[in-house]
Amino acid sequence: MGSPTSIIVVIGAGSIGQSIARRVSAGKHVLLADVREENARSAATTLSNAGFDVSVATVDVSSRGSVHALVGTATALGDVVGVIHAAGVSPTQASPESILKVDLYGTATVLEEFGNIIGRGGAGVVIGSMSGHRLSALTSEQNRLLATTAADELLALPMLQPDQVKDPLHAYQISKRANSLRVMAEAVRWGKRGARLNIISPGIVITPLAMEELNGPRGPGYRRMMESSAVGRAGTPDEIGNLGAFLMGSDGAFVTGSDFLIDGGVTAAHWFGDLSLR
Ligand SMILES: NC(=O)c1ccc[n+]([C@@H]2O[C@H](COP(=O)([O-])OP(=O)(O)OC[C@H]3O[C@@H](n4cnc5c(N)ncnc54)[C@H](O)[C@@H]3O)[C@@H](O)[C@H]2O)c1
Repeated sequence: MGSPTSIIVVIGAGSIGQSIARRVSAGKHVLLADVREENARSAATTLSNAGFDVSVATVDVSSRGSVHALVGTATALGDVVGVIHAAGVSPTQASPESILKVDLYGTATVLEEFGNIIGRGGAGVVIGSMSGHRLSALTSEQNRLLATTAADELLALPMLQPDQVKDPLHAYQISKRANSLRVMAEAVRWGKRGARLNIISPGIVITPLAMEELNGPRGPGYRRMMESSAVGRAGTPDEIGNLGAFLMGSDGAFVTGSDFLIDGGVTAAHWFGDLSLR
């Protein structure tokens, strides 16, 4: 009997998810899952034309039942050794309520569900955002609540109610901060299964999601960010893919529970440079 198939699950089959998957999935089976079936199918066509063994599923990360069903689909295919969580909605695409549901609750649910089955030696990577690094410090109690409250109780926290989270950008920032805290807390649990978990916090990376932001009401602000940063341009999905491959592969074996800011220097300029409000 041969060894079971190793499965890499990509949740959010967009540009960043695909770029990491291409680097870590040779010889493994890639399950591409997205709320938009056409996105998963288009990623599957691209990857299978490049020699990868793929299948597709639909998932809505804002639904516990849907994420649980995806876990069932993945484990029926083989041993889950990699999870790339790159599904999300941006401030221009959605209301504060939907952003909290998809980006904050959805990520917490994915980490809980896949943390129950991730294989020994496995690795996960979540795509957060530099936006989480632009929010002012929260209290240690708020950090603890965002990190450890059971996913199904998260959206009832007083700090996440509409009187506290008033606009889509704030909802996005707090969701991405929560992702980072959640990854640190979940890395402890994943570690007990012999698996690692990290988060990448990208700056502006040219993808369909970023193009909507650049063409939307926040476009001029984003352009200013890029121009005032040390690197002076947007990133490419492949640059995020390289970091993802490092974190998921053997070179990253000592790294877990960590948040990697990769933004061309925008956050540095925000706090201490030309983008500083002070
Ligand atoms: N592109 C950037 O500049 C940038 C910067 C920082 C962070 N990010 C983050 O990177 C992640 C990936 O975005 P991208 O830029 O590759 O965009 P993308 O639009 O190419 O991919 C995002 C994918 O997520 C899917 N998705 C949305 N809601 C979903 C849901 N409820 N369930 C399952 N799938 C869902 C979309 O259908 C889409 O295919 C997002 O979390 C985003 O916040 C992007």
